[in-house]
Amino acid sequence: MPVVEANEAAIDEAAAALQAGKLVAFPTETVYGLGADATNGRAVAEIFAAKGRPQFNPLIVHVPDLAAAKQIAIFPSKARRLAELLWPGPLTLVLKLRAEAGISDLVTAGLDTVAVRAPSHPIAQALLRACGLPLAGPSANRSGHISTTTAAHVAADLDDKPALILDGGPTVHGLESTIVDATGDRIVLLRPGATTREALEQALGEPVASPGSSGAQSNDVNPSSPGQLTSHYAPRARVRLNATELRPGEALLAFGTPLSGAGSRMVNLSSNGDLIEAASNLFSALRQLDAMGADTIAVMPVPQTGLGEAINDRLNRAAAGR
Ligand code: TXA
Ligand code: MG
Repeated sequence: MPVVEANEAAIDEAAAALQAGKLVAFPTETVYGLGADATNGRAVAEIFAAKGRPQFNPLIVHVPDLAAAKQIAIFPSKARRLAELLWPGPLTLVLKLRAEAGISDLVTAGLDTVAVRAPSHPIAQALLRACGLPLAGPSANRSGHISTTTAAHVAADLDDKPALILDGGPTVHGLESTIVDATGDRIVLLRPGATTREALEQALGEPVASPGSSGAQSNDVNPSSPGQLTSHYAPRARVRLNATELRPGEALLAFGTPLSGAGSRMVNLSSNGDLIEAASNLFSALRQLDAMGADTIAVMPVPQTGLGEAINDRLNRAAAGR
């Protein structure tokens, strides 16, 4: 079991592991997080593989402070106010992504928004500063299990999936961060959590909206299922699954050896059939094919094993709904 007491040497080792694209579990003031370099698509894909998540929902990006967050996202005045008054702490802001920040689009599920938070836990702070990377980090538990609040729980749940589990003792809140949509002039509460509505309203000097209420700008949020807030990038083109031949005019989303007849309008998820690589390329591939202007994207079969389940979940949704 890769559990180590989070002293200075262990934090340096963890920072080096993160820089090398590995996973590190670390304490925050809410729950333990499973961290990876948010700019490294392969590393982010490993998070989903480790959690056994059958779906790609977007992940929170952890940063040390507001200055680091501004490199990644655009802060309207109310978002800045919340960050200035309540960071570091258990508050996550959904904001417009800066494309040039190089955040993997597996982190954002291809959306043009990103969830960022500056945790207050001293070990999380030390790790973020030591590695110098924005860290994608969902709660460090297997999919469908509850969030973990001790290093022993992380080890029991994720075993040796993280290269290292930094033990910082039990977390303080034991409840995830509060998530708000802060893209607009009206702050919308997306997921209740360790920062109370009252604290938000006091910081803002005005009421906070709930999803679906007038003034709430997110229309892709299902208020009945907090924590499952997500939508994904939806391609404009029609999507045809399990293609075994290419029809005239179609663009191709390949996996492995491309179908014969594929021309320049082709993106390969992984030419050697590597599901981790395929996951890390999925959202950018759909965007690229859309940008090529095809009416229909033919998608080669992807095996339903490992990360294939999450890839196929996403492709099925892309095929079902526009
Ligand atoms: O306290 C926490 O927030 C913990 C610690 C580790 O920081 N993290 C956490 O992450 O709870 P996770 O992955 O279990 O939950 C992240 C939530 C998901 O419900 C996801 O839908 C939402 O954040 N989310 C992420 N990006 C989003 C976006 N661009 N728009 C809307 N929701 C987003
Ligand atoms: Mg979670």
